Amino acid sequence: MSNSIDTHEDSSGLTLVLGGSGKTGRRIVQRLQSRGIPTRIGSRSGSPAFDWAKPEDWDAVLDGVRSVYISYAPDLAVPGATDSIQLFADKAIAMGVTRLVLLSGRGEEEAQACERIVQATDAEWTIVRSSWFMQNFSEGEFLQLVLGGTIALPAADVPEPFIDVNDIADVVVAALTELGHANEIYEVTGPRLMTFTELAQEISEAAKRDVQFVQIPAKAFAQGIEESGIPEDIAWLLNYLFDSVLDGRNAYLGDGVKRALGREAADFSAFTRRIAACGVWQSGSTKAVLGKEAVRS
Ligand SMILES: NC(=O)c1ccc[n+]([C@@H]2O[C@H](COP(=O)([O-])OP(=O)(O)OC[C@H]3O[C@@H](n4cnc5c(N)ncnc54)[C@H](OP(=O)(O)O)[C@@H]3O)[C@@H](O)[C@H]2O)c1
Repeated sequence: MSNSIDTHEDSSGLTLVLGGSGKTGRRIVQRLQSRGIPTRIGSRSGSPAFDWAKPEDWDAVLDGVRSVYISYAPDLAVPGATDSIQLFADKAIAMGVTRLVLLSGRGEEEAQACERIVQATDAEWTIVRSSWFMQNFSEGEFLQLVLGGTIALPAADVPEPFIDVNDIADVVVAALTELGHANEIYEVTGPRLMTFTELAQEISEAAKRDVQFVQIPAKAFAQGIEESGIPEDIAWLLNYLFDSVLDGRNAYLGDGVKRALGREAADFSAFTRRIAACGVWQSGSTKAVLGKEAVRS
């Protein structure tokens, strides 16, 4: 761990934050901009636009960039991700990028293949390999389930150390701006293993409303998401995550937050208190929480 701010010449270039309007990226952009670091958002709604499906447009996005946060959408596990990461890494290095920070997932062979691609580049690399996000339940895919009072998922009730994405943002910003994080794999998790039943109970208590976890058969879940009309790749991903990844293989704590930042990761109880106070689990509006999150360090 190092707190010294990087003064090498490349820090004068732009920092590109892929997925810069998403859960992790938005917080990373806020932190970088508050430090006065020139930042570019890489997403389809950014300017210039960045689309993983349109490599022919990547040169414009990479122009003048020295450091990149890579968050792949929708997930490094989807077919084709390794090809995209390889192509992006090659292009980034050719365009003068010297630092790459990759957001990865735990227990996904495909994600680990993408990590190896980034590690094989000439850049200084940092891998931030993360557990499931707490914010999946406050601004992500599962908020609607919480609002409906039933977190119905095909998950066995295996424990997972959910992480606050603010901790991920802090680790990524450290890796992008400080010395001492090159060639590190930070396995970042929350400080506590929790089952979905425990998670629902804690949300329920904090939100002062009945929220339950109900385990449903994978087939019913797959049918439900197909009928909900969510994009095909997200449906594939959810089925894959519950079918293959959430089998207990990730039921252990990682020390990446402590190693990168010298402090403990935030507990789920702090997250539920904060989100409940913002009223997200009553109104469904994430506006209040996003405003508050913006001013968190
Ligand atoms: N959720 C979890 O529990 C968890 C756990 C571990 C790792 N991860 C990893 O986290 C990553 C997602 O990060 P996140 O949750 O911070 O993002 P997110 O909230 O899912 O937002 C997605 C971001 O990617 C952009 N995007 C979507 N499709 C794109 C495309 N085709 N080309 C370029 N940009 C695109 C979106 O902006 P536009 O719509 O403007 O393009 C947005 O900025 C995934 O790789 C996932 O594997 C997630």
